[in-house]
Amino acid sequence: MANTNLANAKTAKNDEFYTQYPDIQKEINAYLDYDPNVFRGKTVLLPCDDPEWSNFTKFFAQNFELLGLKKLISTSYAPESKKYKMPYQPTFFETEQPHFNADKSKTHGKIFVLERDVTGDNRINIEDLQWQYLEGDGDFRSKEIRKLRDEADIIVTNPPFSLFREFVAWLVEAGKQFIIIGNMNAAMYKEVFPLIKENKIWLGNGFQSGNAYFRIDAVRNEYADGVYDETTGLVKFRNCCWYTNIDHGRRHQPLRLMTMADNFKHSKHKEIRGKKEYEPYVNFEGIEVPYTDAIPCDYNGAMGVPISFLDKYCPDQFEILGIGLELANMDIIKEKLGKLNGGPRLYVERDGELVRLYERILIRKKQSV
Ligand SMILES: C[S@@+](CC[C@H](N)C(=O)[O-])C[C@H]1O[C@@H](n2cnc3c(N)ncnc32)[C@H](O)[C@@H]1O
Repeated sequence: MANTNLANAKTAKNDEFYTQYPDIQKEINAYLDYDPNVFRGKTVLLPCDDPEWSNFTKFFAQNFELLGLKKLISTSYAPESKKYKMPYQPTFFETEQPHFNADKSKTHGKIFVLERDVTGDNRINIEDLQWQYLEGDGDFRSKEIRKLRDEADIIVTNPPFSLFREFVAWLVEAGKQFIIIGNMNAAMYKEVFPLIKENKIWLGNGFQSGNAYFRIDAVRNEYADGVYDETTGLVKFRNCCWYTNIDHGRRHQPLRLMTMADNFKHSKHKEIRGKKEYEPYVNFEGIEVPYTDAIPCDYNGAMGVPISFLDKYCPDQFEILGIGLELANMDIIKEKLGKLNGGPRLYVERDGELVRLYERILIRKKQSV
């Protein structure tokens, strides 16, 4: 836990970590499995992606024809605008071009566009990418990139985690479809959770076993032990996920759950097995379910579940009522304790003591299920 927190703190400062090709391929395939034409005739924008480095650009350029894209636009952020300063050296790819400009290379972003066959081999692929310097530094919030956003149908990227709230707001205000990477805890942000609750955003297909590995170029000592692996050159983040508003099959697979009675008999969790009831909350009418796989399938009231439930959330099976932060009645707690120990949370009573729980998502079984 300490390692994860440290990694989160460090990455809040440093946004420079790069997504691996197989992770992008696996995620995009999930949308294609559900709808093979999801990208057909569409303009895709990759707004935080320098094609010299980004596997997003590589993936979409290589699969341009297979996906049936109309246009691919990829923009990068100027090295001098990046929060994390690293020694900068333009690549051969850039310097060999007649329009290379040593100053602009540092202070301007770049735009890469793929739309037609330039090389004359009758195929549209990565060889046909054409680039220019942007007028500005490529900040996704700039007027220049907003205009590209407005032109696009679908926006895909791993955005800077430190600007995640702003990035989501930027997507939502334009009403665009998107597939982006973020931290699972971002689901609880006040800018994000209401969208999840209303089924306007959901989690994507996901990383293998919830572990995401990213490439970094430098600053290895920034990461806690066990986060950076020297042999692979990758950093491992637990708790990473994809956020999207494009449908995929996994989100329609209901969780297979036991009845309450069977949970008491067979649950693998000591907090449930052998018990006679699920703990009721003191300050909300509902029961505490500390593990997603311990949700009873035959309970019709409100249940509080961990945030990781979102990865298994099937909107056909459950509705989301809110989070503890919004729904916990703190007057009851203040009355019982005489004071409050921190912000709103759900409480249970154990051995006569009030216990403050981790943040919970409150859900209820859909009546039709
Ligand atoms: C987490 S990295 C991911 C890079 C790439 N999308 C990938 O997945 O390999 C986020 C990138 O966004 C860039 N960035 C940071 N702030 C930005 C901004 N305001 N506008 C556009 N890009 C930004 C960072 O420099 C970094 O390269």
